[in-house]
Amino acid sequence: MSTWWRDAVIYQVYPRSFADGNGDGIGDLAGVRAHLDHLVDLGVDAIWFSPWYPSPQADAGYDVADYRNIEPIFGTLAEAETLISEAHAHGIKIIIDIVPNHVSSAHPWFQAALASPDAPERELFWFRTSKERPTDWEGEFGGTTWTQTEDGAWYLHLFDKAQPDLNWNHPRVREEHLDILRFWLDRGVDGFRVDSAALLIKDPALPPVVDGEPHPFHDRDEVHEVYREWRRVIDSYEGDRTLIGEVWLPSPERFARYLRPDEMHSAFNLDFLCSPWDPARLREVIEDTIRVHEPLGAVATWVISNHDVTRPVTRYGREETGFSFAAKREGTPTDLRLGTVRARAAALLSLALPGAAYVYQGEELGLEENEDIPPELRQDPMWHRSGHRDPGRDGCRVPLPWSGEEPPFGFGAGAPWLPQPRAWKDRTVAVQQADPASMLSLYRSALSYRRSIPAGSLAWIDSDPDVLAFQRGDGFACIANLSAAAVPFTGTVLLASGPLDDGLLPPDTTVWLAL
Ligand code: NOJ
Repeated sequence: MSTWWRDAVIYQVYPRSFADGNGDGIGDLAGVRAHLDHLVDLGVDAIWFSPWYPSPQADAGYDVADYRNIEPIFGTLAEAETLISEAHAHGIKIIIDIVPNHVSSAHPWFQAALASPDAPERELFWFRTSKERPTDWEGEFGGTTWTQTEDGAWYLHLFDKAQPDLNWNHPRVREEHLDILRFWLDRGVDGFRVDSAALLIKDPALPPVVDGEPHPFHDRDEVHEVYREWRRVIDSYEGDRTLIGEVWLPSPERFARYLRPDEMHSAFNLDFLCSPWDPARLREVIEDTIRVHEPLGAVATWVISNHDVTRPVTRYGREETGFSFAAKREGTPTDLRLGTVRARAAALLSLALPGAAYVYQGEELGLEENEDIPPELRQDPMWHRSGHRDPGRDGCRVPLPWSGEEPPFGFGAGAPWLPQPRAWKDRTVAVQQADPASMLSLYRSALSYRRSIPAGSLAWIDSDPDVLAFQRGDGFACIANLSAAAVPFTGTVLLASGPLDDGLLPPDTTVWLAL
């Protein structure tokens, strides 16, 4: 059996912002189909679609009203099926997002639950009838996790109030999800990205969050049974389908429990994503990752961006280069030139590590965070729920620039749903594909060379602690120089993230070598 996901490059399409085929300013499936050649030329193995289901878009589609259809703004179910076959015809696999922790408040179950205090559908959620708010839990987007209905009951939502949490102790919730998996597996999808995978199970006693005690809703032991059941469904299908978890946990050991052989195949390496551009921290994350994955035979993943975090070009251009939801540092001094140099080096570092790699749309174009979105155009519930203290995630979700000198840069015919910086005239796909030194050319070359990197783990090469140097097999080495001085190296250069300095590897530069 092929296990394509073991070393795949998986490209994340954020449907609202990839390309707009019908001129309404919002990306759609027609736009993806029209630009599939971009992904073929880039050399990706799979596409992961952020949610494409019918949704009021209170959280950009992570509020699903119907798991068995396509959001009309994006297209139709028939079109999704066509897109799946077109991608397959190019040898590209399709992974879709599944959002099991919560539904949209527009979902028929929640609507039925709201209709009457006696509705049996209330059992599918977390309704409470206490006078006071049932807990003081803090929501993932800030603010409270409880909202009162018109009849005075409270319901739980770890995210926005338009995203009521499901009760995973109820058998209907479990059966429904198994059926949703089958619905899409029957339509040929190759895998699922599981949203907020560690949050599904809640302690029904709803205790307060107390340090040192089991958390009332994070990473509860019972959640693993859910994924074991999902894995059995996945494995009952022919082909090589895969489950990828979005698991945010501070402990690599707890994280690895999701990757036991009868659970998920892989999970996003969010520690790597959040790591600062710091050699000691990166080395530690790489070592921890390999240490917990290898004994399980699980696949490590390497991620430097997604639709929730500040774009790497911006992050790495700041004094504090790590990512944290608690401190986004919008508006702090940012050197985009330096950030770009480091993002190029980070790309070659992450793409040389053993395992699967993710590329979030626009990363291959070196797009920076748009920090100039006027307040009235911001849409992220994080921005609204934080009382505008948190800038939210709109800045990394801006529609892609394809061609031309002016917005919308070939994104579509209408004004894009979020404004694009004018400077992106130099970052369009059209400009970059003609430039061998562009970020796009670097990604294309890297994805192509990557296919010949020997499989198997890495072996560190002795080096200055500020230089990350490792071999894969006998014939390939990757050296990332995070020190302040240029360093010597041996081997034949296959690819470098920036110009070399008289045979030396300059600071903030990564090189791939044939040995
Ligand atoms: C994680 C997703 O990546 C994020 O975009 C979303 O807001 C939350 N889960 C809630 O579904």
